[in-house]
Amino acid sequence: MNGVQTFLDVRPAACQTPPMSIGAQHPTTIAQAAKILRAGDVCAFATETVYGLGADATNADAVLKIYQAKRRPRFNPLIAHCADLEMARELVVFNALAEKLAQAFWPGPMTLVLPLKPNNTIADLVTAGLDTLAIRIPADEQARALIKAVGKPLAAPSANPSGSLSATSADQVRRGFNGQVPVLDGGACTAGVESTILAFDDAGGVIQLRAGALPREQVEQLLGQDVPLAAANAAISAPGMLKSHYAPNAKLRLNVSEPRKDEAYLAFGPTSATNPTMRNLSVTGDLVEAARNLFAHLHALDDTSPGCIAVAPIPTTGLGEAINDRLERAAAPRG
Ligand code: TXA
Ligand code: MG
Repeated sequence: MNGVQTFLDVRPAACQTPPMSIGAQHPTTIAQAAKILRAGDVCAFATETVYGLGADATNADAVLKIYQAKRRPRFNPLIAHCADLEMARELVVFNALAEKLAQAFWPGPMTLVLPLKPNNTIADLVTAGLDTLAIRIPADEQARALIKAVGKPLAAPSANPSGSLSATSADQVRRGFNGQVPVLDGGACTAGVESTILAFDDAGGVIQLRAGALPREQVEQLLGQDVPLAAANAAISAPGMLKSHYAPNAKLRLNVSEPRKDEAYLAFGPTSATNPTMRNLSVTGDLVEAARNLFAHLHALDDTSPGCIAVAPIPTTGLGEAINDRLERAAAPRG
C-alpha cells in the first residue's frame, strides 16, 4: 500500500459506495509521487505551464481515473508527457519539421501532435481513439524527474475539474478537487498558461491548434513560415477546444477600460481604476508576467464572489494571444 487513498472509484456507478477517503495525503517527495503513479493511481504535479493531473499513460485503468476525477468528456484526448526525446521517439513518428521544433523548444511549453507508432504502449483512452498522440517534454525539472522515476510517459490534462479555471499552484489543485487528489507541490508555475499545441498538415505546413506559452511568432521565426491558427471547423483540430472553458464562477466582461464600481477588475498596465476588488496582471504591461499571473488572479477575484469580473484590454501579440484565448473562452456563454 502506498498509504494514499483517493475518492476515485472506477467501478460502474451502481456499485460505487460513497468515498471513504477523508482527503488525499500529499506526497512530499518525487519517489512517493512515483509510487502512487506506478500503482495505477492519479497524482497531480507541477509543470512550467499549469499543474497536470497525471497517470501512467500505458495503464488504461489509471487513465480512466483522470477522466473520472475531472469529469472530462471521453472524446477529449490527453497529452502524454515524456522525460526526454528518447521516450518520445518510442511513441510517435517525427517528421523533419517536428524534429526541428523539438530540438529548438523542448524541454518546454510546446505540444506536438504526431502519428502514433504501430505497437505503441499508450492506452487508447489517452488518444480518445485517434491515430495521433499529443506529446510534450516539460521544462520543469521536477516534472521530468517524476516521469523518469515512474519510467513511463504520464498522461496529464490540466489539474482542474473540466471546464473550470486551470491551476497554477498546488493549493488551487487541492481546492479544485476538494482535497481528494494527491498533489506533488512544485511551487507556482513559471509560465502560467498551457502549452502551445502544434499539428502538421499533409502539405508540410504547421498549424497551431491552441495558443499557449510558446508564442506563435517564435515558431514562425524558427521555421521561416506562417503558422496559421486552426479554424474551429478545420479537418485538423484539438477536440478539447470547447468554446466555453477555463470558466470562473463569475461572469467575465472583456476589453473594459473603465470598470463599474460594483465589478471586480482584472487590470493590465497602468490604470486609473480604483475598484475595491482589483488585481493587476502586470503593472508595467509585461505579457510574460501577465500570463504567469492570469489564473492565480482569476481564482483570487472569483473567490470574492463578484457578480462580474471586468477585464482590461490585453495586446494580442506574443503571449497575449494565449491570454486572450483563455479570457475569451472564460467569457463565452456556458453550455
Ligand atoms: O500545458 C499543458 O499543455 C498542460 C500541462 C499539464 O502539460 N496540459 C493541458 O492539457 O493543457 P489539457 O488536457 O487541458 O489540454 C490538452 C489539449 C486538449 O484541447 C485536447 O483536445 C488536445 O490537447 N489534444 C490532445 N490530444 C490530441 C490529438 N491527438 N489531436 C489533437 N488535439 C489533441
Ligand atoms: Mg485544460
